[in-house]
Amino acid sequence: MAVIQRIEELKSGALSAVAAAGSTAALEDVRVRFLGRSAEITEIKKSIGSLSPEDRKEVGRAANLASREIEEALRARTNELAAGEREARLRTEAVDVTLPGVPFPKGHLHPSMRVIDDVVDFFVGLGYRVAEGPEVETDYYNFTALNIPPEHPARSEHDTFFLDEGLVLRTHTSPVQIRTMLAQEPPVYVVCPGRTYRRDSDPTHTPMFHQIEGLAVDRGLTLGHLKGTLAAMARHVFGEELKVRLRPGYFQFTEPSVEMDLSCFVCGGNDPNCTLCKGAGWLEMLGAGMVDPAVLEEVGYDPEEYTGFAFGMGPDRMAMVKYGIPDLRLFFEGDLRFLRQF
Ligand code: DAH
Repeated sequence: MAVIQRIEELKSGALSAVAAAGSTAALEDVRVRFLGRSAEITEIKKSIGSLSPEDRKEVGRAANLASREIEEALRARTNELAAGEREARLRTEAVDVTLPGVPFPKGHLHPSMRVIDDVVDFFVGLGYRVAEGPEVETDYYNFTALNIPPEHPARSEHDTFFLDEGLVLRTHTSPVQIRTMLAQEPPVYVVCPGRTYRRDSDPTHTPMFHQIEGLAVDRGLTLGHLKGTLAAMARHVFGEELKVRLRPGYFQFTEPSVEMDLSCFVCGGNDPNCTLCKGAGWLEMLGAGMVDPAVLEEVGYDPEEYTGFAFGMGPDRMAMVKYGIPDLRLFFEGDLRFLRQF
């Protein structure tokens, strides 16, 4: 019968296509071509219904046998090829665990950040909280609330960057004192590190620099507490042997105000030709004082009940001194040849 003949032809065509296929993807094509929905054998099976009962049986059996044989051949060949493909993939994906790794460039902290971290760690160890405030500050928080009213000459010392009406780039971190006191009741113990801005540029001034503000308000705080706290901080950052001294100073928001000096840690005050202190024996370090009662009143604290001390220091300057760097501008140029030395 012609149909049986045709089925045999299709079968041997399919078997040689299976044998010739070189990949599992090619085998899938063979499957679709010979056993798929529009393959000829499939068509033959669909048309069986229209044959005579005897033919139906014979053609049906031949078609089923042929399909089964092709499927069997496909399965066998698929297994064979898949094993080879897996092996090839494993071979190309193999990782040589003895190869040296890719070295990552190692980063490190900027000298200013090392001093900031050191100072902040010291105060956190004493139980102080870290507080932050905005760098774009209102005139009120930066000046007025700190007892520097509009038109006061103290304002002109700040070389302020003015922004829109009533806004400035903060010239110090002292406004964070005000924000902190307005947000909570005493006792207050905070340190406030951050960026500050002034119109100034020379070897020891940059338009952006850092400050760390500190504020303690409680019952019974005295200048003695201020001195003890700052002396311990200075020894933590610069070395145990150091001495500190307080000199009279002037700030609008503290009364009395002091400036703190550090005994020179290069010469110990014994070398008139010392390159660091120039023979003075002392290094200027920070400004501080007892919080002015006018400032406490401004934030609604009762100055009869509470006293406080505050201080403000420049960690960039401290890093210059600590690491012997002559020009502050080097800190902010981002030159890796400079930064990699720390
Ligand atoms: N804000 C001052 C400045 O930038 C530094 C300062 C002095 C802060 C005395 C204080 C302080 O909290 O009590 O020059």
